[in-house]
Amino acid sequence: MRTTRNLLSSAAALLAALAAFGVQAQASSGPIKIGLMLPYSGTYAALGAAIENGFRLYVQEQGGKLGGREIEYFKVDDESDPSKATDNVNKLIKRDNVDVLVGTVHSGVALAMAKAAKDNNTLLVIPNAGADAITGPMCAANIVRSSFTNWQPGYAMGIVAGHKGVKRAMTITWNYAAGTESTKGFTEGLEKSGGKVTKDLTLAFPNVEFQALLTEIAAQKPDAVYAFFAGGGAVKFVKDYAAAGLNKTIPLYGPGFLTDGTLEAQGAAAQNMLTTLHYADNLDTPRNNAFRKAYAIAYKSNADVYAVQGYDAAQILGNGLKAVNGDLSRRDQLTAAMRKTVVDSPRGKFTLSAAGNPVQDIYLREVKGNYNEFRSVAVKALADPARGCKL
Ligand code: PHB
Repeated sequence: MRTTRNLLSSAAALLAALAAFGVQAQASSGPIKIGLMLPYSGTYAALGAAIENGFRLYVQEQGGKLGGREIEYFKVDDESDPSKATDNVNKLIKRDNVDVLVGTVHSGVALAMAKAAKDNNTLLVIPNAGADAITGPMCAANIVRSSFTNWQPGYAMGIVAGHKGVKRAMTITWNYAAGTESTKGFTEGLEKSGGKVTKDLTLAFPNVEFQALLTEIAAQKPDAVYAFFAGGGAVKFVKDYAAAGLNKTIPLYGPGFLTDGTLEAQGAAAQNMLTTLHYADNLDTPRNNAFRKAYAIAYKSNADVYAVQGYDAAQILGNGLKAVNGDLSRRDQLTAAMRKTVVDSPRGKFTLSAAGNPVQDIYLREVKGNYNEFRSVAVKALADPARGCKL
């Protein structure tokens, strides 16, 4: 009896040691498991695809390795559905046991991912979703973003609109974190430069029944309209705005998402539109030219801001991994190196704030043909205020 018990406990100890050895081995050798949680269906599907393409392009340029280690991908379609987000992220964390989460596009889904990443202490690199809270009150050492906060491009557009003499503006967006935070940023910038927002119009995500709201805009005749939409919804909104004839009398402004990755589908309706964003297609730098060429060859399509953000997510992770020779168990050094990196982005070099969000130039762009062309720097080295972040 005693011997059996002894045998069992030594077997258990051996198993525990083997498991610990396995974890250790996974931390420093073999492929790094990357969990891509992105929208592969719905209104943001094209954005998810561009992010994955950009991420893979950078990895391929490094010979398929980051920090000297092969990369193994695991994928989940999050459908931009916040109600499924916790289950979806747990598939990657608990079922697939990934080392790093990369995602996502939709702020509501990203908020659930950030909570899960914090609870499980999993590394998270966000290649789009701008939810202010993630690098605000929820900020954490294991979370960084390669993109923007919703506040950043909105604030810059508000400043530009005020300087153009806009006194009374209306906003229109989907009623969720990205839309409301983007329009809040715009309102703050506009107030700072002499104007104000007279009315905020919203509809539920991802609805595209804009007619009643366009009728209200036509009746109120503001000096300008600021709209946050993206992906398929942005295509429909910009076309409906032009079809109603509003683009002839009331300038339509927005963060660059309104016209990024969408221009072939928007066609004439988007021409000459002004937007603000941390990227412009024709930035004439060796870095951007080489990136766009490599992307076009690899994917037979034009790069856009989402592709850039995916590419830079891989760069940030890669630079962190390089600093620890691919050893994930050196977690503190890894996260510190990711935060300290100067990202050599196609958008221009940028750094990360203490909260883990890009500090970056926001450009004013104008639509010409199928391109968002650089016009000027709207706000230089803009840092999100990161209200509520204690790190
Ligand atoms: C967001 O939900 O944060 C979001 C989605 C699409 C964009 C930008 C932001 O293009």
